[in-house]
Amino acid sequence: MKFELTEEQLMIQKAARDFAQNELLPGVIERDEHQKFPAEQIKKLGELGFLGMMVDPKYGGSGLDTVSYVLAMEEISKVDASASVVMSVNNSLVCWGLEQFGNEEQKQKYLVPLAKGEIIGAFCLSEPEAGSDATSQRTTAIDKGDHYLLNGTKNWITNGSTASVYLVMAQTDVAKGHKGINCLIVEKGMPGFEVGLKENKLGIRGSDTHSLMFTDVKVPKANRIGEDGFGFKFAMKTLTGGRIGIASQALGIASGAFELALKYSKERKAFGQEICKHQAIQFKLADMATEIEAARLLCLKAAWLKDQHLDYGQASSMAKLFASKVAMDTTIEAVQIHGGYGFVKEFHVERLMRDAKITQIYEGTSEVQKIVISRGLLQ
Ligand code: CAA
Repeated sequence: MKFELTEEQLMIQKAARDFAQNELLPGVIERDEHQKFPAEQIKKLGELGFLGMMVDPKYGGSGLDTVSYVLAMEEISKVDASASVVMSVNNSLVCWGLEQFGNEEQKQKYLVPLAKGEIIGAFCLSEPEAGSDATSQRTTAIDKGDHYLLNGTKNWITNGSTASVYLVMAQTDVAKGHKGINCLIVEKGMPGFEVGLKENKLGIRGSDTHSLMFTDVKVPKANRIGEDGFGFKFAMKTLTGGRIGIASQALGIASGAFELALKYSKERKAFGQEICKHQAIQFKLADMATEIEAARLLCLKAAWLKDQHLDYGQASSMAKLFASKVAMDTTIEAVQIHGGYGFVKEFHVERLMRDAKITQIYEGTSEVQKIVISRGLLQ
């Protein structure tokens, strides 16, 4: 067992760290405050190849492994989780799904610009009444011969207004249950497609989360991914990889908060000495560092399994379940170590604490991860 990173992986990690410090840190507090999408920064991430990291270069991607993706996600998320969720959705849910299951025509038309970061994509599964219970899709895609007629509403869609391409899950044949669901590629601007309300969120406030409305949208049959009825499996397989991305985002939020708390504890004095010299703080730092390391190992293990083409379903759920809890616990402790300063925006940790919460909710709640893990155990 080798725990060493390759030269290339270290280079990617450093490039992501430098980008986060130089391009994302300036303005991150204001973007959070005003819910401003990091448009310029996302464009630059695309130019650097961070939006199609694992895609084959022949489709415009960077051709890197999932371990490199985890490393980059951690570094970007340390500083700006709003930017990293855009990166995660585009890489894991949209590009990966299209590369694995799209046909050549779909790859040329959609994957190439998405992987190059010229446009971004969105993954549309959740509905007002179908979150964890994802088989209960109410959005319908009625077969009309050469096209589907799409009707319904999607909720909490990341990149809702900024995406150009949307992978939309919809029910074609209710009688077939989840086997009657299809995934359709919908383009912004198709008549009948409207972007709805922007959510005013607790965290990741720089990312744009919207509802989407579809009214008699004519989607060509050529835009269906895979065979008729493959949509639910497409969503599940894609989310399995996506969970590695969100686990790494949670890891980054935790390690970002930890680094700030460690630094602050060496500077801040109380009772005649730096607070890091007090055992009460040392115990907190030791717990935080240990939990972060365990979360990192789970993320890297899931990524490694995926890179080896081994089963990574349970590993990705374990990584997400654990890393998101570590993100929550660590950020709360980071605020505590900062005392009153931790409660104000200039010190960053309150934002990281707010950002942490969503990692226990999206791409499957912690409870969903436990379902996936326990099903694996009981097989
Ligand atoms: N890979 C491949 N196939 C899978 C699968 C996987 N990981 N998980 C399930 N399936 C298949 C099953 O084998 C089954 O197929 P068969 O009938 O042919 O055997 C089918 O899918 C149905 O599976 P289940 O019976 O297990 O389905 P279920 O209704 O019991 O649901 C669940 C299981 C795990 C709870 C699932 O519904 C789930 O993951 N829900 C959470 C959805 C989610 O993560 N939503 C996030 C929205 S996207 C988002 O947040 C993105 C963003 O914007 C950041």
